[in-house]
Amino acid sequence: MDGVASLEPDIWSQWLDHYRYGFDTDAQDRVLTQVGHYVERVLNGARLKSGMVMLDIGCGDGAMSFRAIAQTGPGLQVVLLDISKFLLQRAEYTARNLGLCPQCRFVQDDAETLSQIADHSVDVVTSRSSLAYVQHKSASFQNCYRVLKPGGRLSIMEPIFYDEALAVAAMKMILQARPPDHPDQFLPLWHRIKATQYPDNESAIRQFALTNFTERDLVRFAQQAGFVDIQMAFHIEVKPEPPTTLEAFLATAPHPLAPSPKEFMAANFSPAERDYICQNLRHMVEQPVRTSIDRVAYLTASKPPADILF
Ligand SMILES: C[S@@+](CC[C@H](N)C(=O)[O-])C[C@H]1O[C@@H](n2cnc3c(N)ncnc32)[C@H](O)[C@@H]1O
Repeated sequence: MDGVASLEPDIWSQWLDHYRYGFDTDAQDRVLTQVGHYVERVLNGARLKSGMVMLDIGCGDGAMSFRAIAQTGPGLQVVLLDISKFLLQRAEYTARNLGLCPQCRFVQDDAETLSQIADHSVDVVTSRSSLAYVQHKSASFQNCYRVLKPGGRLSIMEPIFYDEALAVAAMKMILQARPPDHPDQFLPLWHRIKATQYPDNESAIRQFALTNFTERDLVRFAQQAGFVDIQMAFHIEVKPEPPTTLEAFLATAPHPLAPSPKEFMAANFSPAERDYICQNLRHMVEQPVRTSIDRVAYLTASKPPADILF
């Protein structure tokens, strides 16, 4: 991209740019429309006003920050924080093109510590699908509380992948209970693919950042950090998915920490195993009616005002 220095793309940017769509432009349109709905809801919960400073944790390419500025106007200052240098550089490039640099500050930092953000320095903390990647989320909530001014507001949305992991763990238990000469070849191969996406046993589920919490834990983290006026809405959407191609399906990863099935199979399956699973998956993926399930939690909370704090 012109104007962007030559940093190497990382797992975060590669997922946002390609793997969440499986390199498929129809899927890209659908995903971006859905993300737009999530962003609107997070920003509604943020109650932004001119004169405020907003911290966008795990800002990615900056979409939510720029939308916040578009909604609130030139009086909003935004701190765009991300672990990914590449994405921060991309966001900065976009801000330059939009003439928004005077309203933006770009900070490379870890969402768990927020070490570059001063105490009591922001009015609003937002985050979308980023705190889920933090190992110790309670520390992250404590630091969100620390950097907020008294009376400040937190508004986040996080995907909840716990049920996906339980499903993969159930697959593993079914396989372990089978006799070794069981004729089905599909489930063992499918389990190997799914186990690259989600942990398949209880202790690994507890350790993996994306599955070590549920929507209820988010409420607990907020309470323990000192937030008040906490509201959490757990939103489950079971929706029809248009048919896709097997190629797009295999090139799609459900999150940045998983390889795509295509990459995993290329490195780990024999040609016969690849052929077998592709034949079976094609039937499943290309049928006219499929459903997908999204599970996301929206959480808003406030830091108590100064007269209650001090
Ligand atoms: C799924 S993307 C979401 C990006 C953006 N919030 C959006 O809604 O499009 C996750 C983002 O979190 C960032 N991230 C992951 N771990 C992080 C950490 N420990 N600290 C800060 N950012 C992190 C990634 O670089 C990436 O930009």
